[in-house]
Amino acid sequence: MQKENLLTGDRPTGKLHIGHYIGSLKKRVELQDQFNSFIMIADQQALTDNARNPEKIRNSLTEVVLDYLSVGIDPLKSNIFVQSQIPELNELTMHYLNLVTLSRLKRNPTVKNEMKEKKFGERVPAGFLIYPISQTADITAFKTSVVPVGEDQIPMIEQANEIVKTFNTTYNQNILYKSKALLPRKGLGRLPGTDGKAKMSKSLDNAIYLSDSPDTIRKKIMSMYTDPNHVHINDPGQIEGNTVFTYLDAFCSDTDQLLKLKNHYQKGGLGDVKIKNYLNEIIQSELEPIRNKRQDYQNNMDYVYDVLKKGSENARSIATDTLFDVRQAIGINYF
Ligand code: TRP
Repeated sequence: MQKENLLTGDRPTGKLHIGHYIGSLKKRVELQDQFNSFIMIADQQALTDNARNPEKIRNSLTEVVLDYLSVGIDPLKSNIFVQSQIPELNELTMHYLNLVTLSRLKRNPTVKNEMKEKKFGERVPAGFLIYPISQTADITAFKTSVVPVGEDQIPMIEQANEIVKTFNTTYNQNILYKSKALLPRKGLGRLPGTDGKAKMSKSLDNAIYLSDSPDTIRKKIMSMYTDPNHVHINDPGQIEGNTVFTYLDAFCSDTDQLLKLKNHYQKGGLGDVKIKNYLNEIIQSELEPIRNKRQDYQNNMDYVYDVLKKGSENARSIATDTLFDVRQAIGINYF
């Protein structure tokens, strides 16, 4: 049976952290056996709000591909490629842009949120406002049926599916396919920062990176946000909103032991240092082999670039076929 196509990707705006690992990378490694997998480094999308900062994107691209390879995304099973190396995606974007209104673009809730966060207002870069349409090009170019993403990306898939429908009815051809979002399991979607804030980010310095040293990881875990009212060991402690337990839920596979710890903590008598040490052990043993593999790849950057180059060539040939069909449907393959 022919495997279905899967596409997902990341904007290269920094190194990947354990939130990415728990929320998406681990799952991608599982899915690469089931699907014909395409993993895209969305550098062009990252440039939509970093046009004056291209070196940040360029440097992050290397970090992201090292992170991919070190967690076990296997280039023999997953086609890893770089968005900007596939110019056909831009032409697809242009054709799709004619099928969407400005008001629809402004209504995309994820874009709206980001615009607020970035305080763009009317000074939003046009490229940023239209990035969901470029994402539609990404999704359709590879005849994708499954898109593993976080919840914030659901509006992108909806918008892509709208365009697919409009395109197919407008040109009376069924050449573009609809796709479905594949969401992370409950509780794994968004790991909070070590300070308990909703989002891990570089500027808040509250993220544990896959490439962090053992010492850095330990320090970050030891300074984690727990229950501010758990002052004395014997006080009853809270599990909800306690970052150490949120992380244990995501990382600890010994559910019996975890349940015991939770009960003990809630009753009182279990100190924060103990649970932090336990979490530290688990995370260290999970990240150690990843860090070692990362080092190996880093010593072999020729191979890493070769993966990206071959992956991009392969992706480009598929996007070229889709673009041909799209031009054919519109009727502009004149000669
Ligand atoms: N918008 C996605 C993010 O910010 C990245 C992305 C770009 C993507 N193109 C994609 C994800 C296509 C899935 C499919 O995470």
